[in-house]
Amino acid sequence: MNAVKLIAKKRDGENLSEDEIRFLIDGFTSGDIPDYQMSAFCMAVYFQGMNAFETVALTRQMLESGLRLQWGETEAPVVDKHSTGGVGDKISIPLAPILACLGLKVPMISGRGLGATGGTLDKLESIPGFRTDLDLDEIRRVTNQVGCVITGASQSIAPADRKLYALRDVTGTVPSIPLITASILSKKLAAGLDALILDVKWGNGAFMKTIERARSLAQTLVSVGTELGVKVCALVTDMNQPLGRMVGNQLEVMESLDILNGRGPDDVRSLTFDLASDLYLMVHPEKQRDEIRAAVGDIVSSGQAMTKFRQMVNAQNGRLEDLPESYESYQIECECSGIVQGIHTEELGWVVIDLGGGRKKVGDSIEPGVGLEILVRIGDQVKKGMPLARVFDNKHVDKSIADRVRQAICIGKEANDPPALIVERIQGN
Ligand code: URA
Repeated sequence: MNAVKLIAKKRDGENLSEDEIRFLIDGFTSGDIPDYQMSAFCMAVYFQGMNAFETVALTRQMLESGLRLQWGETEAPVVDKHSTGGVGDKISIPLAPILACLGLKVPMISGRGLGATGGTLDKLESIPGFRTDLDLDEIRRVTNQVGCVITGASQSIAPADRKLYALRDVTGTVPSIPLITASILSKKLAAGLDALILDVKWGNGAFMKTIERARSLAQTLVSVGTELGVKVCALVTDMNQPLGRMVGNQLEVMESLDILNGRGPDDVRSLTFDLASDLYLMVHPEKQRDEIRAAVGDIVSSGQAMTKFRQMVNAQNGRLEDLPESYESYQIECECSGIVQGIHTEELGWVVIDLGGGRKKVGDSIEPGVGLEILVRIGDQVKKGMPLARVFDNKHVDKSIADRVRQAICIGKEANDPPALIVERIQGN
């Protein structure tokens, strides 16, 4: 086979066979196919798309580029959740220990911040000592001992995606549904899952800006995952305002601890409980939703979920007791009265990155303690002089940051209903 011919075939809108896709993925992973050819191939896919068969084949070949965890027949169901990423989305942190308390095994493979959205690994690394680089044996050991682990994709998990993602990131080829699908599922399915729930975000703080694109990504993820033998379900959820109040690594860990302690914002709690219940029902369809929701509530209120989280942190060398105090904060006040019409969510994510809470280029270090607390939600009534947000920064009060946050929160006169948090559920067969 010849890479040039395959690139041209996709460029001209033809479909590729599984052997042709294998040739490209194996060649790229081993270094035989250079970055410039793979970039051209990704751009061809970006414009021409891939049909269902090709997307399944691409996902399978990327998955097979590395190792897969094996759990044996008689073990508890192995499950995970993936979010396509949003501002303030810290759900994985309380969700993993709750699922473990429900008796599920949760080898959660997570990522770092991408664009304006934060990453679970960066958040957890604000806990002193917390390791996110576990190898496959360590993932298996901690999952078996504790019930849950949250770590990065090790070198042996889907190496094709590691290489391809880095290339897509710098060639404008990230927002392609077949490429995103293969990227997400190849990493997740390598953990040997029985069931996976996807939280596909839509809105101005998400990669998918329209509900139609989010729905289409959700449908593709569900059908490809199902075709590859895993139970997959997706929720399409709102990202037109931050999830919860806190945006920033350590602040989001603190808000997650609030949820685990039975406090915290309603939206974070409600989405965490819904994802936990839906995922549990995927592997125990004989149970009733109300029963599971109540069990999740008990797991939190009895302190079991918090204890489980501590066990996971200890097993990953973290020292929760050494989590520093949050930085000093200053308040941003509202300059007029009215109703919150909308929030430029992505801009708030960029503000946190500019405060030092995310990377602008590969290898940048992160200041874990910086961030924002957003004190208003869409539809809230506000008055001149009322606090809109707090900025956590250890340097100084920065007027340009305050102006950007104020401009990101749009205030008008019209009554405005808050957006629905869960818009749609898409089930596999
Ligand atoms: N997250 C991933 O893991 N891959 C993508 O392509 C996009 C988001």
